[in-house]
Amino acid sequence: MNLLTANKLSHTFDTNLFHDITLELNSQESIAIIGLSGSGKSTLLHILSTLLTPDEGSVCLFGKDISTMKDKELSKIKRDDLGLVFQQHYLFKGFSCKENLEVAAMLSNQIIDDELLKRLNIYETKEQKVTQLSGGQQQRVSIARVLTKKPKILFVDEPTGNLDAKTGDEVKKIFFEYLKEYNAGMILVTHNEKFAMDCDKVYRLENKKLRLIK
Ligand SMILES: Nc1ncnc2c1ncn2[C@@H]1O[C@H](COP(=O)(O)OP(=O)(O)O)[C@@H](O)[C@H]1O
Ligand SMILES: [Mg+2]
Repeated sequence: MNLLTANKLSHTFDTNLFHDITLELNSQESIAIIGLSGSGKSTLLHILSTLLTPDEGSVCLFGKDISTMKDKELSKIKRDDLGLVFQQHYLFKGFSCKENLEVAAMLSNQIIDDELLKRLNIYETKEQKVTQLSGGQQQRVSIARVLTKKPKILFVDEPTGNLDAKTGDEVKKIFFEYLKEYNAGMILVTHNEKFAMDCDKVYRLENKKLRLIK
């Protein structure tokens, strides 16, 4: 099933970052985007995940162009179907890890999966305020929070950046198992070459274009 189709995307901040980018994501598929720092990977992910409107081109989610959707329809899709794991974690700062997860569980009518917290090695720290956690722990709380709501599309920016190799490998496994179990798709930006090459497709963002390298 087609989850996302991006058509001829172009975007410019001070200079043109990319143009004519076309991309398709299906269920159970993982796509990695790699490229030099500053090449526009995060910007592209922001556009694909509806946070940023492209200068040109369109993004379709579940077969429908998002620019034609009413605010309410798009909000519902964002809340229920899109899972964003970004560098800025957007955790609720005054809350504990557990409270952050409870908010996600409540909004999406799901339950917190203690097994997932154990695998991510944050079960023991769940009562602590997120501000007391390390960058790597916060990163894992935001992964747990996003997976708790069981989204159909995961947009993931550098999920293993703050993690040691062993924890990074576990995170990778968790994402791949999630895609299978929930028939979901993932677009991943990473500098972790192994994680990228384990995805179904790998693109390099280079010279303002996406080049398929796997
Ligand atoms: N909101 C913004 N306003 C202006 N320039 C931006 C904004 N976001 C990103 N940029 C610029 O766009 C370029 C690409 O950024 P980014 O998409 O974060 O690249 P990457 O994720 O590949 O490192 C950078 O030069 C960055 O400074
Ligand atoms: Mg980036």
